[in-house]
Amino acid sequence: MKSITRRNFVKSSMVAGATAAAGTAFGMTSDAEPSKKPKAERIKIIGICCSPRKGKTTAASLQVCLDAAKEVHPAIEVELIELAGMKIDGSLAAGLPLEPGERDDFPKLVPKLSDPAVAGIIVATPVYFSSMTSLCKAFLDRCITFWQNNLALSGKVAGVLAVGGSRNGGQEITIQSVQATLLCQEMIIVGNGRPAPRIGATVWNSGKGDVTEDEFGMATTRNLGRRIAEVALRLYGVAK
Ligand SMILES: Cc1cc2nc3c(=O)[nH]c(=O)nc-3n(C[C@H](O)[C@H](O)[C@H](O)COP(=O)(O)O)c2cc1C
Repeated sequence: MKSITRRNFVKSSMVAGATAAAGTAFGMTSDAEPSKKPKAERIKIIGICCSPRKGKTTAASLQVCLDAAKEVHPAIEVELIELAGMKIDGSLAAGLPLEPGERDDFPKLVPKLSDPAVAGIIVATPVYFSSMTSLCKAFLDRCITFWQNNLALSGKVAGVLAVGGSRNGGQEITIQSVQATLLCQEMIIVGNGRPAPRIGATVWNSGKGDVTEDEFGMATTRNLGRRIAEVALRLYGVAK
């Protein structure tokens, strides 16, 4: 394998995320910084569903979270993006080239996530062996392009939702691990807020039916959505 010096690591990773907005340097001030932004008419909250299974329990939980965020204010728009079916190769984050004929869907996500109208991002993942899915990790590793190119995630509000097959199957440790990567992007991390503030949304897929029947988990999910929306509004505001 080609040895990776710091210089060619940075250079090749930038190539891997070539569709990111221009203007690149470590230490640059982010355009997304809330204090520098004029008040917008609308703000957007995006949910990224990191289950490899489309439309299943993580997506259903994330929809509940986004619906709760939307209810906070009429100026809030939400969008759920499922990574299921997308090809996201985590090794490109380390500067390795795309193999000939290999597809890479990450660049499609770059403009969506870089959009300055996006004030909040919810990352939702199933718990796989007490951690996030490999799809979630590949996605988060590829987000290195924002750190290197335009700091587009810096200053955006973030929260995490985890769904496990057990009530206490590692949801909290999974959330913490996702949050740690989001902190590296200078995101503003929030938990699920009142009435029982905790680390994030912790959902149990009992396998008996609809995951939205998990009353406790759905309360944490709705509270996370509401909390993200409240903090995003406070930081970004909306034009009257
Ligand atoms: C490889 C694998 C590992 C899993 N590990 C755990 C685990 O450690 N703890 C847990 O509670 N559930 C675990 N599960 C169950 C999933 O988290 C659970 O079924 C979840 O609802 C799947 O989300 P989805 O329906 O969106 O795909 C695991 C599932 C798979 C496939």
